Amino acid sequence: MNDSPASPSAVSVIGLGAMGSGIARTYIDAGCRVSVWNRSRGKIDALVSDGAIACDSPADAFKANTHVVVCLTDYAAWDKIIEEHELRDHFADTCIIQLTTGMIDAVREHAVLIEKHGGRLADGAVMCYPRDLGTDSGSLLMAGAPDVLEACDPFLRMLAPNWTNLGDDISKPTILSRALMVDIGMALIGVVNGAAIARAGDIPLDVFMQHATNVGSILETEKVRLIEAVRDGNTQETQASITSWGEGQKAVRSIAQSLGTNLVLQDAVKTVFEEGERLGLGDRDLSALVEVFSSRQS
Ligand SMILES: NC(=O)c1ccc[n+]([C@@H]2O[C@H](COP(=O)([O-])OP(=O)(O)OC[C@H]3O[C@@H](n4cnc5c(N)ncnc54)[C@H](OP(=O)(O)O)[C@@H]3O)[C@@H](O)[C@H]2O)c1
Repeated sequence: MNDSPASPSAVSVIGLGAMGSGIARTYIDAGCRVSVWNRSRGKIDALVSDGAIACDSPADAFKANTHVVVCLTDYAAWDKIIEEHELRDHFADTCIIQLTTGMIDAVREHAVLIEKHGGRLADGAVMCYPRDLGTDSGSLLMAGAPDVLEACDPFLRMLAPNWTNLGDDISKPTILSRALMVDIGMALIGVVNGAAIARAGDIPLDVFMQHATNVGSILETEKVRLIEAVRDGNTQETQASITSWGEGQKAVRSIAQSLGTNLVLQDAVKTVFEEGERLGLGDRDLSALVEVFSSRQS
């Protein structure tokens, strides 16, 4: 992003869970005047002792500042707060920085609601832990009208200096954040499943850990190669075909079965490779599995 126009000084934060509290603290550390509201009072008091200003209601948080960050469990919680506190009347001329993780329909309906009541919306997804906020590891995926994102830029920059602008389609942050969650989720679930198999086979977990780290070191370059292959439609060239990967995964399933571990993950993987073979992708690169995932199940 370009340099911010001016240093902002005041912002409200609604929702003080792990992430909302982290956001409020990051603003306080950056020298902002931060007004906070949360359903449970204890979390407000903890922030007040760090320098925040307590709001008695979310409406007060809207009255206090022109920029309001919302970070709650989900959109259902936000809808409930809007209803219970009749917040619609307070949206006008406020920049709402919505950082609650949402689903596509809820995010779009929310955008319509904010616009109808004269508010301005920057919708986003936080892609880091609270401890990373305000550092170069802070990561925010954002969407909104260009003028709104520009108005919010100084506040976004304080949380994530290199926040990502995904344009004005408000559903993009939620889509990208979920796509990234598949990536990291599968890798982490895989390592836990591998640990269960190693343990069932009396392999010390320290030994598993050492080798899991070695094997995992190829992941970064392999991810780039696979994404480039999908992007460029170049899924023919391969060092290990889908058939060969599938055979390897069949062996995993057989060993897991012999050791008596739960096969729920191996069964899902088996289905993926069977679909790949059914689509005639056996001699193609692993990246060709994109054809399996791109079509709805027949
Ligand atoms: N924590 C992370 O590392 C992380 C990372 C990336 C993204 N996120 C996203 O950040 C958002 C917040 O996550 P979190 O970790 O901060 O969650 P959290 O610690 O569980 O906090 C949830 C917040 O939502 C509030 N809330 C829930 N239901 C409510 C209701 N019906 N009415 C009013 N307030 C309600 C809670 O209020 P009470 O305090 O009163 O319960 C609390 O402020 C989520 O969308 C999550 O996906 C979190």
